[in-house]
Amino acid sequence: FAIEYHDSIPSTNARARDLAAEGASDLVVLADEQTGGRGRLDRDWHSPSGGVWLSVLFRPDVPMAHAPVFTLAAAVAVTRAAREAGVEAGIKWPNDVLVRHGDAERKLVGILTEMEGEADRVSWVVVGIGVNANVDPGDLPEEANPTSLSAERGEPVDRRLFTQRLLEEFDALRQDPESVLDAWREYATTLGKQVRVETPSRTIEGEAVDIQFPGSLVVETESGTEIVSAGDCEHLR
Ligand code: BTN
Repeated sequence: FAIEYHDSIPSTNARARDLAAEGASDLVVLADEQTGGRGRLDRDWHSPSGGVWLSVLFRPDVPMAHAPVFTLAAAVAVTRAAREAGVEAGIKWPNDVLVRHGDAERKLVGILTEMEGEADRVSWVVVGIGVNANVDPGDLPEEANPTSLSAERGEPVDRRLFTQRLLEEFDALRQDPESVLDAWREYATTLGKQVRVETPSRTIEGEAVDIQFPGSLVVETESGTEIVSAGDCEHLR
């Protein structure tokens, strides 16, 4: 990927979307600080200097329905890079990269995927990855229950090396979508747990038993097996 670097920018995802509209592909927008970072459900994403805030723009030759696999790929890539940096991260379905602290799980990474295209073919995908790298979790909103690489390690991480490893892993995974689910299972903290998943239309409770292409959770409930493609997932026990 070519990398476009900014000391400060409103949002790397917004910039990558603009570049997509201009016809660009296979590039990464990277920033030290975002002044208008966006999260899922249109929430603000706090992005102080010291983080790794980046968006990958590419044009995979797949139907729209397959795109969730790229979000899982991003979670796997970040988890691997974090583990190499000495931080034992795990993935909560679908793509929260967390670190365990006793019974609690703290959030290290946020991922926001945006895309455009026709049903049978994606035109572009922007995978936005926000890593709390060298930031003080005390400077981040408490509701998110945040942690950071530097807080976990007790010293700053080499952001250049971390970003390079993250992008290498992501590049390999996005070209081999079949390999993503196995890799995801390896780091999943959700499988085997009792979960409650809130979707816009219903709430599903049961044991999370597996993940299915392109990223749906398989839940055994009292009334049978449910396949959930998206939702907010809570680990009950
Ligand atoms: C979430 O709500 O958990 C997703 C947060 C995604 C944040 C990243 S930081 C880089 C990219 N640019 C943005 O504005 N958002 C994403």
